[in-house]
Amino acid sequence: MSSFLVKLAIFSTLVASSFLCSWSNADQRRLSTTFYESRCPNVSSVVRGVVEEAAQKDVRIGAKIIRLHFHDCIVDGCDGSILLDNADGIESEKEALPNNNSAAGFEVVDEVKAALENVCPGVVSCADILALASQILVSLAGGPTWEIPLGRRDSRTANRQGANDLIPTPFDTLKNLTSKFDGFGLDTTDLVALSGGHTFGRSQCIFFRHRLYNFNDTGVPDPTVDTTYMETLRRRCPDGGDNGTLANFDPTTPDIFDNEYFKLLQNKQGILTSDQVLYSTSGADTIDIVDRFANSQSDFFERFARSMIKLGNISPLTGDDGEIRSNCRRVNYY
Ligand code: HEM
Ligand SMILES: *[C@@H]1O[C@H](CO)[C@@H](O)[C@H](O)[C@H]1NC(C)=O
Ligand SMILES: *[C@@H]1O[C@H](CO)[C@@H](O)[C@H](O)[C@H]1NC(C)=O
Ligand SMILES: *[C@@H]1O[C@H](CO)[C@@H](O)[C@H](O)[C@H]1NC(C)=O
Ligand SMILES: *[C@@H]1O[C@H](CO)[C@@H](O)[C@H](O)[C@H]1NC(C)=O
Ligand SMILES: *[C@@H]1O[C@H](CO)[C@@H](O)[C@H](O)[C@H]1NC(C)=O
Repeated sequence: MSSFLVKLAIFSTLVASSFLCSWSNADQRRLSTTFYESRCPNVSSVVRGVVEEAAQKDVRIGAKIIRLHFHDCIVDGCDGSILLDNADGIESEKEALPNNNSAAGFEVVDEVKAALENVCPGVVSCADILALASQILVSLAGGPTWEIPLGRRDSRTANRQGANDLIPTPFDTLKNLTSKFDGFGLDTTDLVALSGGHTFGRSQCIFFRHRLYNFNDTGVPDPTVDTTYMETLRRRCPDGGDNGTLANFDPTTPDIFDNEYFKLLQNKQGILTSDQVLYSTSGADTIDIVDRFANSQSDFFERFARSMIKLGNISPLTGDDGEIRSNCRRVNYY
C-alpha cells in the first residue's frame, strides 16, 4: 500500500471511531442533575450526613469548602485538581500562593470520599463532592438551594502555576477582577453575586492590613474604609502584628449565608480591597448590582444559585476523560 493510502486508512478509522465515541458517550458528555440516580442513588444523603456532622464541629466548614470549589473550578475547570497533594510529577495547587496556609477543609472532603467509597466505590468524583458539599453547606447556613449538575471526573494533574496566575487576589483592581472572571466565562453580575460568598467565613489580617496603615504607599489608610470600621480592623490587626489573625468577612452575621455582605459594601465595610472596589470604583457598573442584591435577598439568592451552576460547569472532565479517584489526595495507581 502506498503511504498515502495508509494515511487515508488511518485517517478514516480515526474519523469513524471519534464519531462513534462521541455518539455513544453523548449522554455522558454533559453534566446532569440525575447523573448518579442509578449509579449511586444515595449520593446526596451520604454527603449531607458527613457535612452536617462536620458543621457541628466547625462553623466555618461551608466557607472553607465553597472556596475550595471556586479555586478548583477556575484552574483548568472543576476537576478536583486542588485536592491533590504533592507527589512525583504533581506540584500541588494547595501550595500556590493564594492557597498555601489558607485553603482548608481537605479533611472533610476525605471523610465524604471515604463514606461514598463505602456505599458506591469508584463512582463519585472528588470534583462532584466539592460541588455537592458546597450546595448543601450554603443551604445549611441559610442560603439558597439549587439542583447541581453532576458527572464531573477527576484530573490526573495539578497546575500550580495556573493557580498562581488565575485565582483572584485581594489586591486586584476591579478591572483585574472582571477580566479574570471574563476568562472563566463569568460576567460582571456573576462576579458580584459570587463575591457574595464572602457573606460568611474569615480572612487573615495579611490580606487586608495594607489598607489600614499605609495604603498604596500613600502614608494614609484606604479612604474607602468607613472610619469606625477602620478602628475595629486596626484593633484586630495591629501594625506589624500576627498575619494569621482572623477577622469575620461579615461582622453582622458571621456564619449566616444572607445578603448582609452587600449592605456592608454600601457602608464602606468590605474587608478586602477586592470586595470594596465593587461599590467604591467610581462609575462602575457593579454598583447597581450591589444595590440590587442589598435590596433583595431573593434576587441575590436566585442569581447566586445561577452563578454557582455556571461556575460548576467550567470545563469539567466527562465521559472517559480523567478518572474517579479513590483517594481525593492522589491519582489512582494502575
Ligand atoms: C472575587 C475575587 C475573590 C477574591 C480576591 C477572594 C479572596 C479571598 C481571600 C483573600 C480570602 C481569605 C483567605 C484567608 O484568610 O486565608 C477569602 C476567603 C473566602 N472566600 Fe474568597 N475571594 C474571591 C471570590 C470568592 C468567591 C467567588 C467565593 C465563593 C463563591 C469565595 C468564597 C470565600 C469564602 C467562603 C472565604 C472564607 C473562607 C474561610 O473562612 O476559610 N471567594 N477569599
Ligand atoms: C440509601 O439510603 C436509604 C435511607 O437512608 C437506606 O435505607 C438505603 O439502604 C440506602 N441504600 C444504599 C444502597 O446505601
Ligand atoms: C507553603 O507554606 C509552607 C509553610 O509556611 C512553607 O514551608 C512552604 O514553603 C510554602 N510553599 C510554597 C510553595 O511557597
Ligand atoms: C492587574 O492587571 C494589570 C494589567 O494587566 C497588571 O499589570 C497588574 O499587575 C494586575 N494587578 C494585579 C494585582 O494582579
Ligand atoms: C492603588 O494602587 C493600585 C495599583 O497600583 C491602583 O490601581 C489604585 O488606583 C490605587 N488606589 C488608590 C486609592 O490610590
Ligand atoms: C506579615 O506579612 C508581611 C507581608 O508579607 C511581612 O512583610 C511581615 O514580615 C509579616 N509579619 C509577621 C509578623 O510575620
